[in-house]
Amino acid sequence: MKLFAALASPFVRKVRIFAMECGLDDRIDLHVLATAPHQPDPALAAVNPVKKIPTLVTDDGAVLYDSGVITDYLNAESGCRLVPADGPARWTAKRQEALADGLLDAAVLCRYETFVRPEEKQWDGWIAAQTGKIDGALDAMAAEVSDLGDPATAETSLGAIGFGCALGYLDFRSPDKDWRGGWPALADWYATYAQRPAMQATVPSG
Ligand code: BEZ
Repeated sequence: MKLFAALASPFVRKVRIFAMECGLDDRIDLHVLATAPHQPDPALAAVNPVKKIPTLVTDDGAVLYDSGVITDYLNAESGCRLVPADGPARWTAKRQEALADGLLDAAVLCRYETFVRPEEKQWDGWIAAQTGKIDGALDAMAAEVSDLGDPATAETSLGAIGFGCALGYLDFRSPDKDWRGGWPALADWYATYAQRPAMQATVPSG
């Protein structure tokens, strides 16, 4: 399988961690792009009309996106149980993934607004609105982080992977945001979860 990737992308990180936790990472060839939202990579554009990473090309030639579709596919392909097959547990896992993705959507928009958009065109009100979404997501994550179980155990889950990638991205791109001070339950959980081998192997760069 081929994964179009950028090593800074938290959505790529989620997929890579998921693959590692399911024992599929040695079947995935990373195709690392130097991508920017206004300069899409031609090889990616040739297979994905919306030019998003991560994009997975399976061994059968199917092209899958976005990260939530890819994690579902990897779950089925590996037979692992990080996404429960059905019932309330499945919808909780998928919602937790969406919660973390929502934080990341807002954080990536802030990143683009401050580092990609020319300074004279930046809009403080837009950044404040995205910051409100990030803080709301952190509130919701803190309220249910204890449901994810002991972060020191070998087992993990889709929700935990999502939470780990979201918090890791804040450290990476928003180092001035004191999320540990504001949400200590998340800080306690992340201090242990971030030590997992898959988290350590995918520390963002770029
Ligand atoms: C980043 O550089 O922060 C980034 C790169 C790709 C996707 C999302 C974020």
